[in-house]
Amino acid sequence: MAKVTIQKLYEMKSKGEKISYVTAYDFGQASLVEKAEIEMILVGDSLSMTMLGNLSTVPLTTDEMIHHIKAVVKGAPSPMIVGDLVFGSYNEGPEQAIRSANRLLKEGGCDVVKLEGCMPDIVAAMVKAGIGVQGHIGLTPQTAGLLGGFKLQGKNLDAAKKIVDEAKALEQAGAFSLVVECVPEELGRAITEAVKMPVIGIGAGRYCDGQVLVYHDLLGMFDRFTPKFVKKYANIGDQIVKALKEYKDEVRGVKFPSDEYVFGGVSKEDLEKIL
Ligand code: KIV
Repeated sequence: MAKVTIQKLYEMKSKGEKISYVTAYDFGQASLVEKAEIEMILVGDSLSMTMLGNLSTVPLTTDEMIHHIKAVVKGAPSPMIVGDLVFGSYNEGPEQAIRSANRLLKEGGCDVVKLEGCMPDIVAAMVKAGIGVQGHIGLTPQTAGLLGGFKLQGKNLDAAKKIVDEAKALEQAGAFSLVVECVPEELGRAITEAVKMPVIGIGAGRYCDGQVLVYHDLLGMFDRFTPKFVKKYANIGDQIVKALKEYKDEVRGVKFPSDEYVFGGVSKEDLEKIL
């Protein structure tokens, strides 16, 4: 697959070709996403929970994010790599946002950045500074507390209009794409039709220009919480536990290592001569 560019994403939207997008947080995961020819990788702040065991995205730092972006970039040369701006690294204003995004791009090596919420002034300043920005509206996990928790957003007409207006404002500010999370399917469709930029849904129905899921969710590797919109394409977590248990049993039962996994070369008799 050739390197995925912003132009390629717009082309896909105009042809009605759906964009696939998944999170990845390290070299191994990114290499597998590369092999699957998925167009976009998000080094999402969900790594705070999936990789670092925190209870939310809030504690994650920019240094930690950069550490993970660097590994992902090495594993996946072709997909567009999006680095997530962490909570507290852009909410003070445009200067802080540009400084944080510059770090993700220069030190991490990602292609573009994503930020949550509708902050058109900040997005416009970042775009003016030459930074590609993806928006993220609807359910925004960094500030889920303010939205009443991890709940469906845009359920009534006023709330739906607010989200459509946010999408338009972010496009106007220069965002090249938008993630829309956890909204009714018809609202996902309306947003997708209301803007020219590619709209990627997560729990936003079938009519978005593409879909994004968290790596650990779709592979069945994270069982603390599974939202309704997650389809588990595999149960890798169960398979890993099964393999680890089998390994433990074989070590205990002295079945591993068997003949095929050991080295010859010196006989017991020869060794006895030197002991
Ligand atoms: O961090 C993340 O994984 C995300 C997705 C939920 C889109 O922002």
